[in-house]
Amino acid sequence: MADTLAMLLPFVDRSDSRGGLSIIEEGAGLPFPVRRAYWVYATAPAISRGFHAHRQLRQICFCVAGSVRMQLFDGRKEESVQLKPGMGGLMLPPMLWHEMHDFSPDCVLTVLADAEYDESDYIRDRDQFIRYVHSS
Ligand code: TYD
Repeated sequence: MADTLAMLLPFVDRSDSRGGLSIIEEGAGLPFPVRRAYWVYATAPAISRGFHAHRQLRQICFCVAGSVRMQLFDGRKEESVQLKPGMGGLMLPPMLWHEMHDFSPDCVLTVLADAEYDESDYIRDRDQFIRYVHSS
């Protein structure tokens, strides 16, 4: 098992005195071909999201504005990481339970995924997730 659940993928940074510029590019560090992108924004106050794991899907999450706290659980170990612009992308491998908490009002959370949306890839029951992890 990795030491940390929160593997951060560094982005190429071309920030200068004018401001920030971060880059992720196929062939230059992107670990999979992107098949889908989506973003979470204008999150209502006190809302948390996620509460699922994926059987196969790989994703990279990063904040382009604001901040959010990602709560991760691999079935054994729990970890929390605060995402903000400029800190790279959080890798979400398959079979990692994730929750998103404490969205700042200006948070824009972008997600790159290696497959199209497929509801059958989701595990939305935490107890079922724990059973899967411990039986494999
Ligand atoms: P969901 O992944 O459950 O959001 P969250 O985990 O942040 O609460 O998605 C919310 C709804 O949007 C759900 O009905 C599925 C749908 N959806 C798509 O149709 N395509 C997508 O790419 C995503 C991410 C969600």
